[in-house]
Amino acid sequence: MNEICNLNKEITVKPYAPNIGGVITGVDLSKDVSDYELNLIKEAFYKYQVLFFQQQSEISPENHIKLGKSFGELHIHPAAPKMKSFPEIFEIHTHKDSKISNGAENFHSDVSCDLEPPLGTMLQLHILPAYGGDTMFANMYMAYENLSKPMQSFLNGLRALHESEHFYRNRYEKQDELDPNKKYPSAIHPIVRTHPETKKKALYVNKFFTTRIEGLSKQESKLILDYLFNHCEKTEFQIRYRWNRNDMAFWDNRCTLHKALWDYHPMERKGRRVTIKGDQPF
Ligand code: SIN
Repeated sequence: MNEICNLNKEITVKPYAPNIGGVITGVDLSKDVSDYELNLIKEAFYKYQVLFFQQQSEISPENHIKLGKSFGELHIHPAAPKMKSFPEIFEIHTHKDSKISNGAENFHSDVSCDLEPPLGTMLQLHILPAYGGDTMFANMYMAYENLSKPMQSFLNGLRALHESEHFYRNRYEKQDELDPNKKYPSAIHPIVRTHPETKKKALYVNKFFTTRIEGLSKQESKLILDYLFNHCEKTEFQIRYRWNRNDMAFWDNRCTLHKALWDYHPMERKGRRVTIKGDQPF
């Protein structure tokens, strides 16, 4: 990755680490983002895969939605509780009474169980624990490129089932509010997907949602998936981001996995996220 690059005199993008991530300063996300800034952000997004906008103030739900929409139509989460009057917003909130984390305790790509999973997610955190609550991100181009050529060829022909019933049911809703007839999404996606913008290949499986490889026996499928889940979590593909209050992270779900560390209970962590609709993986 390049050293610090000054994209223009106000906006600065620095690599967060050699493998993945960029830190952006000089863009005020609480104000309208100009076309010029938008183009620079997109360029950095494709290059660094996850961006951390620092020195921000808390942005309102309205502005968060508006900002997300500048990258595409917004995705509505199929299961998580929605913010009152803002169905596009997924509130992230864990505190002393939380029994489970915010649904991100393992490496995953957001809602990969959807037929057209989200392109990216924008999360701003407003309340942070005094320590802990970092988020890990992993580079799935690197995960693919670090497989042997025969393994790459084998995986290139395969597709896998991504399911969500086992993960979403009982997670967000109280038992007595559950709708037994509610249908949770599932989809079949290629194990190796091509990023529609960069044209690079990325591994596209994750522990939360990927349950079965098409065409293989149950035993074969489990063996390969367990191998891939472990492979994706190699430390050399990862970073660990320590949040500052009001940082906005914007990650590309098509070529990264992420995991939020649940190590700060009973302290509080709170923020809001929007996701931008993506297309069907190919
Ligand atoms: C998420 O998957 O959106 C949550 C990430 C986080 O809480 O850091």
